[in-house]
Amino acid sequence: MKTTLITGIGELVTGDASLGDGSALGIVRDAALVIEGERIAWVGAEGAAPAADARVDAAGRAVVPGFVDSHTHLVFAGERSAEFAARMAGEPYTGGGIMTTVAATRAASADELRTHTRRLADETLLLGTTTVEIKSGYGLTVADELKLLEVAAEFTPETTFLGAHVVPAEYVDDRAAFVALVTGEMLEVCAPLARWIDVFCDTGGFDEDETRAVLSAGVAAGLMPRLHGNQLEHGPGVRLAVEFSAASIDHCAYLTREDIDALRGSGVVATLLPGADFSTRGPYPDARALLDAGVRVALATDCNPGSSYVTSMPLVIALAVREMGMTPAEALLAATAGGAAALRRDDIGRLTPGAAADIVLLDAPNHIHLAYRPAGRVVAEVWRRGVRVRAAR
Ligand code: NIG
Ligand code: FE
Repeated sequence: MKTTLITGIGELVTGDASLGDGSALGIVRDAALVIEGERIAWVGAEGAAPAADARVDAAGRAVVPGFVDSHTHLVFAGERSAEFAARMAGEPYTGGGIMTTVAATRAASADELRTHTRRLADETLLLGTTTVEIKSGYGLTVADELKLLEVAAEFTPETTFLGAHVVPAEYVDDRAAFVALVTGEMLEVCAPLARWIDVFCDTGGFDEDETRAVLSAGVAAGLMPRLHGNQLEHGPGVRLAVEFSAASIDHCAYLTREDIDALRGSGVVATLLPGADFSTRGPYPDARALLDAGVRVALATDCNPGSSYVTSMPLVIALAVREMGMTPAEALLAATAGGAAALRRDDIGRLTPGAAADIVLLDAPNHIHLAYRPAGRVVAEVWRRGVRVRAAR
């Protein structure tokens, strides 16, 4: 198998605390790294590097693991810029615009959705995202949810069935019938294409009993649970996530002390989505309180046309640092190993032998530049599963 040696790495963030400087990021200075096929074969001090078939010189720049964006709604049609402008003029975000996207998405063909998703997925990749999770949820009929998941599965194995996104207009007078559809025929048709089951458990979404019904049915169908909760108000999201041993509870803008205590030691990752709080002018989550309590935190984009038309994990990192009290190191860890934990993956989000060769070369001497130089072209090159996807500028 072909090997490639990256030399001259001024700062190598391995994401393994047992390596390098002993920090949580596991930083090795003046480092080198060997890619073999799709995997990392070796990391260490440059002077000890083995020979390889090809060589790339990082010229003193930093290398970090590819970002793991563990929460997106990438398959959709249309756009909602007017809704964004209205919000910036004072309107609140309610989730009511979701049906606008549902209408556009239902009207789009699988090919149109594929083309649009490809554009967004390529954009995320060039910004350093090497693993993306993609949810359904803009179809809300059996055929349309299937259409979304078929497209999503072409881009990632991390597909999520979010039939319980909102109750569509045609069911508003009979919510129970929609929950029955989601937990019945829709789940049966969609489950083979999904790894995860998700519910929008919030005001405007689904209540505690409905959420429990959907998660239970999803688990019975072999899907693993994750949850949207506490985005728009305080609710039962954390309690349910812990009850179901969900991989992650996402948003977490409104948490009580009891929620944080319940998350501690639960194994449930708190996934924070500052792009959504930025784009809706909602409150940012209290990342400091979560981290200080020892809760595992992930950062993701929540990319969707309504609450967060954000594809950039570097922007998310910058927001987490500037607005949520995370250090640059904590934010990078949350955007890599944290996202991997939120997807229950141990083969991504770190640069150690055996892990996926998902590599971001920064045009910077260290990882702090991701937050320090927001919206700059800090990501220079990306390798995904060992394949170099961006040539040097
Ligand atoms: O995670 N709030 C629920 N779902 C999405 C937003 C969807 C939309 O507004 O289109 C979210 O923020
Ligand atoms: Fe979301």
